[in-house]
Amino acid sequence: MDRNISLELVRVTEAAALACGRWVGKGDKISADRAATDAMRTTLGGMEIDGLVVIGEGEMDEAPMLYIGEKLGTGNGPAVDISVDPLEGTTLCAKGGNGAIATIALAPRGGFLHAPDMYMDKIVVGPAGCGVIDLDAPAGENVQRLAEIKGCAADDLTVVLLDRDRHDHHVDSIRQAGGRIRLISDGDVAPAVAACVEGSGVDLMLGMGGAPEGVLAAAAVKCLGGEMYGRLIFHEDEELERAAKMGITDLNRLYSAEDMAAGDVFFAATGVTDGELLRGVRYEAGGAKTHSIIMRSKTRTSRWIEAHHQFQHKPGFSEEV
Ligand code: FBP
Repeated sequence: MDRNISLELVRVTEAAALACGRWVGKGDKISADRAATDAMRTTLGGMEIDGLVVIGEGEMDEAPMLYIGEKLGTGNGPAVDISVDPLEGTTLCAKGGNGAIATIALAPRGGFLHAPDMYMDKIVVGPAGCGVIDLDAPAGENVQRLAEIKGCAADDLTVVLLDRDRHDHHVDSIRQAGGRIRLISDGDVAPAVAACVEGSGVDLMLGMGGAPEGVLAAAAVKCLGGEMYGRLIFHEDEELERAAKMGITDLNRLYSAEDMAAGDVFFAATGVTDGELLRGVRYEAGGAKTHSIIMRSKTRTSRWIEAHHQFQHKPGFSEEV
């Protein structure tokens, strides 16, 4: 794939973040998500790709835009699969909480796991922890193993988990092992990426979250040389049907990052609100600043981009929602 796709992709996430950033704290997650989705779709439409949405805003009958199976781009470039979450952390955005991002990943056609909208059990660690994590081991054991390989104490490490009752056993186990914990209300993609970034303050991300978010995180983890494992969690019969429709036959399969995001993948994200990975959108008179990361697995290059946008010279960007 053409390496210039990177810069095109970051324009897509910037546009989404600039659009939904206006909705931060306004208590309306639907409008925030719609603004991000509209902006992302418009910018994606102009890209020189033959794109197919495989992780999107929902099935064709439930999402007007960026639905699974939607074709995007001019149709002239490389055949790519697209995974999007125009606003990851809709509630975070609506409440002005930390860690909302706009994100997208691209893979060669067939590269992404077609993950149904259901739960996935996940564990993510950065390059320094490769080879020691085990999704099936107690969370505290993972902390101890990570501390050992990093040559530090367990309480030097910070584990991020979604603050959910279903994670109580993980929390107990991590505390017993001596690890530090950051419980987040929403948005597990950004901390998964942060776990792979040295100095981010996140050493491990684990627990059950969305499967589509798992695929997006896998693309980033692969680009950053980290390690991730995930397993789909089935709660209802209807999820079994959906998985079968998406070609999933082994329901208990343990997926690595490579299994979820194969080939030469690209990942981009722009901060909507401040988080440990990215700063949120800063508006100023007539413009705004955005903070993004863009990376590619083939070269493992990650670029952090601070962009200054002047709305006057940016067709389609109004100053207010
Ligand atoms: P939305 O952006 O769709 O609101 O999802 C946010 C999120 O927190 C994800 O980051 C996470 O994977 C999932 O929801 C967790 O689901 P649940 O809230 O059901 O525990």
